[in-house]
Amino acid sequence: MRMRGKVAIVTGAGSGIGRATALRLAAEGARVACVDLALDAARATAAAIEAAGGEAVALGADVTDERACARIVGDAVARFGRLTTLVNSAGVRPERRDPAPPPREWQRVVDVNLTGTYLASRAALPALAAAGGGAITNLASIYGLTGGSLSPAYAASKGAVVNLTRQMALQWAPAVRVNCVCPGVIETPMTAPLLEDPAWREAALRKHPVGRFGRPEEVAAAILYLSSDEAAFVTGVALPVDGGYTAA
Ligand SMILES: NC(=O)c1ccc[n+]([C@@H]2O[C@H](COP(=O)([O-])OP(=O)(O)OC[C@H]3O[C@@H](n4cnc5c(N)ncnc54)[C@H](O)[C@@H]3O)[C@@H](O)[C@H]2O)c1
Repeated sequence: MRMRGKVAIVTGAGSGIGRATALRLAAEGARVACVDLALDAARATAAAIEAAGGEAVALGADVTDERACARIVGDAVARFGRLTTLVNSAGVRPERRDPAPPPREWQRVVDVNLTGTYLASRAALPALAAAGGGAITNLASIYGLTGGSLSPAYAASKGAVVNLTRQMALQWAPAVRVNCVCPGVIETPMTAPLLEDPAWREAALRKHPVGRFGRPEEVAAAILYLSSDEAAFVTGVALPVDGGYTAA
């Protein structure tokens, strides 16, 4: 039970990496507020946690909404008494692989991936600092460490998440640790449409030296480590979980 006594908020908990992370943190003893824009999906994750004997609550919120971020922190603390852990997994990718997306599409991706990460962190930081041993883990990406060819908005947003992580780690030490993970291509609903394109799939696979794409549970395992007290001496890092993608 590596998260016994911890209380976590996981954004984007209704799907993919966020869902796997919420389930794993709960299996390790954390009580978890499952947050998602899609409330039904958050409810399904919370129900799965409770069915497995854990404790969870589902909260609907848009992380780009400052007041919604304040509300989820208030609700989580009211329900579980404190807050020790935040995982920022809510994120979007561009709808089309457009080399020059229109401003509205650029803004949507930056708003959710970057500003949403900042707003949820900003809302949670006082409670995390008050609890002692608090930790934030952000979802960056291999496309935050390399340019990649997916999208300018996505790469810019994830590169900024890496540096936001470093800045907040310095600013909030020693009260709160702040780290990020940089996953390679993980098989989730976000990547399913990309992976349906045989040419894209083949090209992406060649860039993963382990010879396969990742599973959400493999990213959740890294987030569990960074969220737990085993990582008490680790802050400000960008940890690739990428099958060797960024080793090249
Ligand atoms: N899947 C990958 O290959 C991969 C690789 C690197 C990084 N990431 C990052 O990991 C995170 C999770 O990705 P995933 O693959 O699990 O995606 P996903 O699409 O399966 O899940 C994302 C979840 O975030 C929620 N969400 C979207 N916008 C939101 C908002 N404004 N407020 C609250 N919730 C919102 C969605 O409803 C969804 O449930 C994202 O930040 C993504 O950029 C994913």
